[in-house]
Amino acid sequence: MNDKKIASLAGEVSLGGDLPVHRLGFGAMRLTGAGIWGPPKDRKQAMAVLRRAIELGVNFIDTADSYGPAVSEELIAEALFPYPPDLVIATKGGWNRPGPDQWTHDASPAHLRQAVEGSLERLRLEQLPLYQLHAPDPAVSFEASMETLAELQNEGKIRLIGLSNVTQEHIQRARRFVPIASVQNRYSFADREWDYAVDYCERNRIAFIPWYPLGAGGVGGEVLNRIAEAHDAKPMQVALAWLLRRSPIMLPIPGTSSLQHLEQNVTAAALQLTEREYEQLTDVPDLVRQGRVSAVRAQSADGRGQV
Ligand SMILES: NC(=O)c1ccc[n+]([C@@H]2O[C@H](COP(=O)([O-])OP(=O)(O)OC[C@H]3O[C@@H](n4cnc5c(N)ncnc54)[C@H](OP(=O)(O)O)[C@@H]3O)[C@@H](O)[C@H]2O)c1
Repeated sequence: MNDKKIASLAGEVSLGGDLPVHRLGFGAMRLTGAGIWGPPKDRKQAMAVLRRAIELGVNFIDTADSYGPAVSEELIAEALFPYPPDLVIATKGGWNRPGPDQWTHDASPAHLRQAVEGSLERLRLEQLPLYQLHAPDPAVSFEASMETLAELQNEGKIRLIGLSNVTQEHIQRARRFVPIASVQNRYSFADREWDYAVDYCERNRIAFIPWYPLGAGGVGGEVLNRIAEAHDAKPMQVALAWLLRRSPIMLPIPGTSSLQHLEQNVTAAALQLTEREYEQLTDVPDLVRQGRVSAVRAQSADGRGQV
């Protein structure tokens, strides 16, 4: 198969109704040093992963100013600028990385303005195609954060606006100020706290970007392994295939610093689960609640298994 076509087998989702991307993207958080801090151990390898993702047809890359900080955005520009015309880079702001494995909020209007300028410069762009509020700041009015993003959009610095780590109420409040193109929350077949947000996004044609999409290794691992064996596939590929089938607005962004894992993950676009397999995976959270399969919750490498 032509490499270029692999990610496209997942189909497309339209961001904001006018920016189509293949439904299998790439998360660039893992390209930084340990604890999402500092430069990668192997810079050449990190750049090779980004370039290979494009060769495989990936045209949506997720990043944030806080990954590194700045490291992930700088690597993307170094590896891929000038960008392919169909590439959509989605970055985020409002949640800072003051040290390894540490997070601090700042979604104040002044900080968001500064953060957008920084991302534009590092990514070498005149407009950010999709800018996501990384997380609502408990010390700042949510409306003030959204008003600022709406202003930045009016000024032409942001094309589309997305949200991350939000409830349905946040999405509804944000939509009073601006159209919301995407929502990025932690989600996988085994981790379904945000099922209702996925359904809300589907009804309102908002792309849903699950982070930690592979975070299912422990939970329901036996179900995953059985289905993977039947397809001669990797468990991670099965977890991604479930997400792709869950909703047409689902846009997974599996992250890796390994070329081999990247190829496995993108190839999941071609994996079709049977109806029964899809249902078996869908039932895992219920089975866990009933104590019928192991419930070891894997932790995201950034140390936030839960938001
Ligand atoms: N909005 C938010 O708050 C938020 C939070 C976290 C992440 N994100 C975004 O979501 C993206 C994905 O989330 P994530 O990185 O936390 O989780 P993930 O993609 O579910 O998991 C990444 C982990 O799985 C490993 N991995 C990847 N592919 C694999 C494969 N085929 N086989 C075995 N192991 C594999 C990676 O290690 P290797 O490097 O060794 O492959 C890494 O440790 C991030 O890159 C970031 O862009 C957003």
